[in-house]
Amino acid sequence: MIENILEASGLSKSYRIGKRQIKILEDISFSVGKGEFVVIEGQSGSGKSTLLSLLSGLDKPDTGSIRMNGRDIVELSEDQLAPIRNTHIGFIFQAFHLVPSLNSLENVMFPAELNKDPEAEAKAVRLLERVGLKDRKTSMVHQLSGGEKQRIAICRALINDPPLVFGDEPTGNLDSANSGRIIDLLVELHKELATTLVIATHNQNIGARADRCLRLKDGRLDAAGIPTC
Ligand SMILES: Nc1ncnc2c1ncn2[C@@H]1O[C@H](COP(=O)(O)OP(=O)(O)O)[C@@H](O)[C@H]1O
Ligand SMILES: [Mg+2]
Repeated sequence: MIENILEASGLSKSYRIGKRQIKILEDISFSVGKGEFVVIEGQSGSGKSTLLSLLSGLDKPDTGSIRMNGRDIVELSEDQLAPIRNTHIGFIFQAFHLVPSLNSLENVMFPAELNKDPEAEAKAVRLLERVGLKDRKTSMVHQLSGGEKQRIAICRALINDPPLVFGDEPTGNLDSANSGRIIDLLVELHKELATTLVIATHNQNIGARADRCLRLKDGRLDAAGIPTC
């Protein structure tokens, strides 16, 4: 049996808007095996980002548990979660979220420097070489194209060798050529590094490359755990 790196059980989440309580996620349960590449599909507004924010410990569910390597992260305080987020989890965002006052190399190094890793710079340079951006080390964020920004953001997500990487619409801000390149890169890195990937997207080209797709609809996972792609 594959060991699970992530086990979500009975997750629900609602938001209060004025006097109304709106249920976004309802009784979501699924597991992700170590080294798996799982895509969470769903239309805009279906709750993909909300689910990723729960799975990565950025927000708390109303009910349910989230086990990461067997440890329930819902119970943990912000102080206990911060080091887990920095060392066990990488996150790739739709809008890149790079720091504009830092250059490419400094953006990639940032999470490793938080860890006081003496190899931070060497690791960042190796990653930049791997994604074909060695000669953009000193470029500032505003000098980079969208595709380059996302390659930098992927390097930053990987620099602490996290076993688990989340992506929230990682190709959502890219044209189709750059989007294709980013998908190829994610698939290659997933194979090379055996990183577990959980990507929320409505780009069906990503779903086609994943081990398994889960579809989020009306707050629930359709045919939870059963491949849909
Ligand atoms: N902080 C919030 N407060 C109130 N409603 C929210 C909040 N975040 C998300 N929502 C609502 O929850 C629903 C799901 O949003 P989201 O998780 O961003 O979906 P997706 O990522 O699939 O587009 C949407 O209807 C959105 O408006
Ligand atoms: Mg979203």
